[in-house]
Parts: sequence; structure tokens; C-alpha cells
Amino acid sequence: MLVGRMAASTAAVMAAAVSSTVGPGTAGVARVSCGRDLSCVPEVAGTLGAVARQGFDFLCMPIFHPRYKREFFQEPAKHRPGPQTRSDLLLSGRDWNTLIVGKLSPWIRADSELEKVRRNSEAAMLEELNFGAYLGLPAFLIPLIQEDNPNLARVLCNHINTGHHTSMFWMRVPLLAPEDLRDDVIENEAVPSGEDESAGEEKTWQWWHNFRTLCDYNKRVAVALEVGPDLPSNHVIDRWLGEPIKAAILPTSIFLTNKKGFPVLSKMHQRLIFRLLKLEVQFIITGAHHHPEKEFCSYLQYLEYLSQNRPPPSAYELFAKGYEDYLQSPLQPLMDNLESQTYEVFEKDPIKYSQYQQAIYKCLLDRVPDEEKDTNVQVVMVLGAGRGPLVNASLRAACQAKRRIKIYAVEKNPNAVVTLESWQYEEWGSQVTVVSSDMREWEAPEKADLMVSELLGSFADNELSPECLDGAEHCLKGE
Ligand SMILES: C[S@@+](CC[C@H](N)C(=O)[O-])C[C@H]1O[C@@H](n2cnc3c(N)ncnc32)[C@H](O)[C@@H]1O
Repeated sequence: MLVGRMAASTAAVMAAAVSSTVGPGTAGVARVSCGRDLSCVPEVAGTLGAVARQGFDFLCMPIFHPRYKREFFQEPAKHRPGPQTRSDLLLSGRDWNTLIVGKLSPWIRADSELEKVRRNSEAAMLEELNFGAYLGLPAFLIPLIQEDNPNLARVLCNHINTGHHTSMFWMRVPLLAPEDLRDDVIENEAVPSGEDESAGEEKTWQWWHNFRTLCDYNKRVAVALEVGPDLPSNHVIDRWLGEPIKAAILPTSIFLTNKKGFPVLSKMHQRLIFRLLKLEVQFIITGAHHHPEKEFCSYLQYLEYLSQNRPPPSAYELFAKGYEDYLQSPLQPLMDNLESQTYEVFEKDPIKYSQYQQAIYKCLLDRVPDEEKDTNVQVVMVLGAGRGPLVNASLRAACQAKRRIKIYAVEKNPNAVVTLESWQYEEWGSQVTVVSSDMREWEAPEKADLMVSELLGSFADNELSPECLDGAEHCLKGE
């Protein structure tokens, strides 16, 4: 869900804002949502307007002045008079809670070994998180810059667990640690053979993993992945893409320049962007203008161009759309009678039925030699036939293999049996016998050469496949 849109009075062109929800993405190719990251914003409303006119959807900015380091313990600084930061009245509530992503002050080191720094950092962090909550920011960017961050995690978790605010916390993690970027690697010693070369590449994933473990996998703690000029191996990228990435930070310095002077990305980076687009992440452009002969919005336009020219989704992706990364309570097809719509979803599977057909085809060729193809009729039992897709797969396989078959379609759901019987009446004819029974109780009139069933279930043994098939095994011919 996009939280809001920029009010016309403030910055007319800001189209979509920061997404702060944890729900499934919406279907279809939406336009890219992209924010601008700034490290210093002297004038909030004016900057927001300027950024909006460039086409950005939101602004990431420190909510406390970057150079104003507070002192919480030592006098006299502790009691320095005056407000800690700017007033909330600079923007409307709606703008704060849809268009601004807060950034933690960069000097904060909640895990510093120096107690004074650590204590000041903790206090400052809490102050900033509380002020962000007061403003109702949709998201707050917090950098992870090292492997162990127990104190950072503690302060953040306390904050999350004690308030009624709803912001997301985007942990800014580099895809590769700064010291592992190419320039440094050249100077480093080569990795001795036998050592895992990708171990270094996974370093920052480990930072994130340690941190979210300490945060007990809290759903409000997500990743803002910072993409550098070098990318790790594909399997490290795969690992990252399994994480709750809400934002991808793209420094202007990673953009190359094409012949016409426009910013473009390398093929490797493009592939990464395509994959991130599938996850519907929000992008954030950071850094100075590296293509001064072009407008700053050309970075944004390039992302939009990539979005519109992304490879079309595969049949599998279309099928799975909206169900990604969600644990669902497993179906109980033995105990419950499934609904028509559930069978409809099964039947959209682009892979399962063709694979079953292939297996039945091979089995028929294996069991019936060519010289017997007109006389040998194989008895096929489809156990748990549902609305009949495996019956159709068996018939197609027999046709493909040029072998003769006779099918028993056994189904215990009386509602699905209605569909099977209408198929039988209208299409299949006497080649198929529909049996309305539990396979464990059915007294088969003859033994089967081949049993076909799909009681695989979605989790462990939730369809009780071994138990059901065990009850039907006596129907199978002994060789
Ligand atoms: C996962 S569905 C598969 C349906 C169908 N084969 C398909 O691919 O769409 C499993 C089917 O097996 C049926 N079933 C489960 N246990 C059964 C049993 N003991 N006897 C007969 N049918 C059973 C369920 O009612 C359900 O229709």
C-alpha cells in the first residue's frame, strides 16, 4: 500500500510516497517509486518541493541537523538551551507521514567501545526515534556498519515494543562491505586456494542476519540495500533477495554514461534492478549529480525506462504472484472438502500437469512393448482426482505414447465428483469410470497397473499422502 500522495500545494508532482506496510505486493507493473537521499536539508519544505519537481516520490533526510551533535551527560552542553531540531510545523502532518524518510544522525555509534560515545549515542538515537515517531514518519533509515550491533538492536527493539507508532525501520546495509570493493581487493592478498571466496561477499548479509536475529525477526525491521559499483556473486545476491528488502539505495556514482551522456547502469546492475523491481522495492538515489550535462531526473527516468523494459514475468511468477514469502496455513484436503476455487488455483499450475503427463507417458512406454500396443489395456487409477486434471493428463499421455488405457478416477469430495461426472458424461466416455469414495475404503473391481496421485501437500504430510496411499495399495497389481 502506498501511504499517500503529495498535496498539490507543497509539491505538485510527487506521485507516490513511502510504502510502510508489510503486506503482499500489488499485481501489475506499477511505476517505479523513487526517493532522493540528502545528507543535509537546510530548508525542508523548499527542498521537498524541489525534489518533487525532479520527479521523486519521497525524500530521505536527517531529522536532526547533521552537524549538531548533542551532549546528554556533560555540563554545560547538556543544558544547552534551545530546541534540539526543527519544528514539525515546517510540513503538514500528511507530508511528514507520507513523504519523509528519517535518517539517523551519522555520528551515532550505539555500539562504540567508548562508553561515553556509546551512552551519548544511545540517548541521541532514542531521541531521534521518538521524534520520528512523533512526526509519524513512514520509515526511518538506520545504517549497519559492522557485524555486531547488540546495543543498536536493543535500543531499537525497546523503541518498537514500547510505542504505538507504526514506522518501518529500514536498515541500510551495503551489498558489499566497503573494504571488499574492487579497489581494495586488488591491494589485498589473494584468497588462498581452498578458502571460500564468497565468504567476504556474504559479510554484510551476516551483519543483517545478526541484527534481525537480535530483533527477533520483527517485521518492522527491513532492509534498505545499498548497491555499490561492484556486485557479489549470484548466489549471494539470491540470498539477499530472500530478505525483506523494502528499499534499494543507488548511489549516482554507480551509473555509467552512455554515448548521449545519459546515466545508465551496467548489464549486471540492470539484472539486479530487474530482480529488485519484481520485489516492488522503493529506490533511493543518493550522491551528487555525476552527469551534470543532464537533468538530475535522468537517473529516475532511467529507472523508469528499465521498469518498462523489464523481462516479462514467467508463467511460474504469474502463477505465484501475491503469494510470495507468505506462510499459509496448509490445506487439509482429507479432513475438509476443498472448494472449487482451490481446485482452480491448482489447475493453473504451469508445470505440474505436464510433468505428470511426461511421467505417465514414459511409464506406459516402459510397461507396454510396441507389439502389444493394440491389445494391452493398462488400468490407471487416479487417486484423489479432484476436478480431473490428472485424468486429462493420463489421457494425453496415452495418446502421446499410442497406448491404450482405462481409468478409474477416485475422489472422496462429493462436490468435485460432480465435475468429474460431467467430464465423464461430456468428454471422456466409457474409458473413464468415476468413483465417489475414499480410496482407503474402495473395493476396486480390478487391480491397477498404474496409480497416479497428487497428495503432496504444501507442508510436511498435511495431505496424509502415505496414510491414504497405503490404504489403496492393495489395489495395485503385484508384478
Ligand atoms: C491436492 S488435491 C489434487 C486434486 C487433483 N488431482 C489436482 O491435481 O487438481 C488432492 C485431492 O485428493 C482428494 N483426496 C484426499 N484424500 C483422499 C482419499 N483418502 N480418498 C480419495 N480422495 C482423496 C482430495 O479431496 C483432493 O481432491
